[in-house]
Amino acid sequence: MDTKRTAQTVFGIAVTIFVLVTAVGQTTGDERRANQLTFANRSGVQRTITTADAIDMKNPFFQDIGTNGRTCFSCHRPAQAWTITPEELRQRFDETDGRDPVFRTNDGSNCEGADVSTLRKRRRAYSLLLTKGLIRVGIAVPEHAEFEIVDADDPYDCGAPLTQASMYRRPLPTTNLGFLSTVMWDGRETVKGQAIRSDLLTQASDATTTHAQGAAPSPVQLQQIVDFELALFTAQIHDNGAGSLRAQDATGGPRRLSTEPFCIGINDPLNILPVMPGACATSSGGLDPNVFTIFNAWERTKVPERRAIAQGQQLFNTREFVIDNVPGLNGAPEDPVGTPLRATCTLCHDTPNAGNHSISMPLNIGLTTVARRTPDLPLYTLRNKATFETVQTTDPGRAMVTGKWADVSKFKGPILRALAARAPYFHNGAAATLEEAVDFYDARFNIGLTAREKADLVAFLKAL
Ligand code: HEC
Ligand code: HEC
Repeated sequence: MDTKRTAQTVFGIAVTIFVLVTAVGQTTGDERRANQLTFANRSGVQRTITTADAIDMKNPFFQDIGTNGRTCFSCHRPAQAWTITPEELRQRFDETDGRDPVFRTNDGSNCEGADVSTLRKRRRAYSLLLTKGLIRVGIAVPEHAEFEIVDADDPYDCGAPLTQASMYRRPLPTTNLGFLSTVMWDGRETVKGQAIRSDLLTQASDATTTHAQGAAPSPVQLQQIVDFELALFTAQIHDNGAGSLRAQDATGGPRRLSTEPFCIGINDPLNILPVMPGACATSSGGLDPNVFTIFNAWERTKVPERRAIAQGQQLFNTREFVIDNVPGLNGAPEDPVGTPLRATCTLCHDTPNAGNHSISMPLNIGLTTVARRTPDLPLYTLRNKATFETVQTTDPGRAMVTGKWADVSKFKGPILRALAARAPYFHNGAAATLEEAVDFYDARFNIGLTAREKADLVAFLKAL
């Protein structure tokens, strides 16, 4: 794909949305500024800004530098909060008869090298992409792993050997990256002690050689991609019910987010201060549970939609429940905490106003169990080579990177901004909506949320 065409497509979308935005009554007259992109979504309007001079549509991020026609933009789209959504993918499929470069059999189809010779076969081959926006991440079991895969119940009969696993995951947004403490769901691009920026350089190179099947980009191109990504900030700016997310002294939107201080470990419940570039100079001295402060000013407003969002924020910060059996936290003997904890959502979503984990701490919150398996996902049986213990999971997670039994099905806690534009949620798209994401937590941790509390939490998450 040539760059010019890509850039035109992006602006084509931006212009359409400009009209939509006008219809919502949000015209500020600046929707098409070079340094920001504004898009409507179901619950309002979301904006990306750059701290550079302009959002450069000629950056290698948008260029075809691989061999299969893909660019980073094939899977990281500004209108979808820099990831992809099933809705937009189905539209792309229909417009191109399933030939857009995102539809490639190296990792876009359920099985590697799937038969895509007819339209019907393509629709079947790319079903996980079309229904849940999932990309196949294929990884071999590490050589000295403490476990082996002894069975794979594969709904697609891909015929892959048990020495590897196909894991179907949501692309993570390539925005707000200045808040990262871990790169990738399983942290596989994070090197201990190394700066996140360096992790992102390797990531951009690996993305080109794997997704785009190209040669590694030049060091200059890699710097350009990472500079581009690190300058982006994205957040919801307008809510259909509550109006401007900056009204009455609220501090929503990407501009404010871009000034939010961050260092690794900035709000760490366990005071584990990592030694690495970008880490805080001193320990945070434990957790301040009031992680989100965006809507503090709306706690006493008379506008009901605004009060609901403020109440949702307060629940997220302060509603306690029992957090137990979370491997990586308190689910195994080697974990930092030995007992169940009474805590809030912010025990794990602790980075101020960003919501990801402020230090690298992969956790298994129970999304990959047999009980939660859906028929469209594979189920792997892993066996510990030393103890012969077995476990079944839809995605072995970090264990495929480290080979450690203790790391089975651990994933990072992602950034919780610009959520409204990018359903479905969780690494495997298990929650089609934010309502379902909240229901997952209510069931998993027996929180006992009332219908009203759930609605407030969802209103808050949508306004991020
Ligand atoms: C075919 C789709 C696809 C393409 C093309 C693609 N990515 Fe991704 N990207 C993904 C998926 C899927 C993940 C998450 C995978 C995981 O964590 O296991 C991801 C994750 C990332 C992350 C990690 C963000 C975080 O929060 O940890 C970054 C950064 C990123 N991609 C940048 C890029 C860049 C730069 C390019 C172009 C060179 C690119 N991607 C091309 C699908 C894609
Ligand atoms: C024990 C740690 C922990 C607690 C407590 C916790 N989360 Fe999470 N959260 C995570 C992790 C880890 C993930 C990523 C899981 C995955 O996809 O595998 C996540 C993902 C999410 C996502 C999906 C984000 C995305 O980009 O897909 C949402 C939404 C979310 N959490 C909301 C909440 C809410 C609301 C609460 C409180 C009711 C909460 N979390 C409590 C650890 C936690």
